[in-house]
Amino acid sequence: ELAYPGGGPLKGKRILITSGPTHEPIDPVRYLANRSSGKQGYAIAQAAARLGAEVILVSGPTNLPAPPGVTLKRVETAREMLSACEASLPADIAICAAAVADWRVATDAEQKLKKQPGEAAPAIMLVENPDILATLSHLQKNRPALVVGFAAETEKVIEHATSKRQRKGCDWIVANDVSPATGVMGGDLNTVHLITASGKEDWPLLPKQAVAERLVRRIADHFSPAKA
Ligand code: CTP
Ligand code: CA
Repeated sequence: ELAYPGGGPLKGKRILITSGPTHEPIDPVRYLANRSSGKQGYAIAQAAARLGAEVILVSGPTNLPAPPGVTLKRVETAREMLSACEASLPADIAICAAAVADWRVATDAEQKLKKQPGEAAPAIMLVENPDILATLSHLQKNRPALVVGFAAETEKVIEHATSKRQRKGCDWIVANDVSPATGVMGGDLNTVHLITASGKEDWPLLPKQAVAERLVRRIADHFSPAKA
């Protein structure tokens, strides 16, 4: 990569990115998961590294290799993801693209759950996981200067994403429509809207790679706006 021999527009910036699903154990052989592929977060990591950023990618289980020039920290659970993020601070920018499991199993069994003849199926109790995006957004010490979240919605995309931005305390939200008809979950294309304090920008249907490139360029411009 010799695109920016002197260092790109994100040179000197340290970016923390979360990506992928999390796996929440039920017992030693079973887990709760979701359909996130990690593609969008990995693409952002790669695009940011290409612009010269120092990139730490904290990823749940995926089939993807570490993008070139990116420090990859692999985790399984939401709680491990939060710890890995905290251990990666300080950072100038945080981008939370992970599909963190909202809940984990309350009592992760030490031994494999067994069928008992004549007994009912086990009830799985869930408890809420920590919210990594909200935690990073509300840090008193070491809050990244720019915190970006994603809002995966299947309806009322802008409305839900706008209130999510407020609730989580992040600076920007990349809203995406993940309703099954879009094929976004696990696919290569994404339709997103960037929601900031000053409103919303609609982006066209783009390959996840192009969404990533556009997002990191937008971030670079935010830190050093082009002079007129
Ligand atoms: N997120 C996170 N930690 C969680 C849940 C979500 O960091 N425990 C982040 C995601 O990485 C994403 C943003 O929060 O950047 C929004 O995730 P989303 O699942 O859309 O929102 P939730 O707040 O979990 O609400 P819901 O799933 O009910 O829509
Ligand atoms: Ca969620």
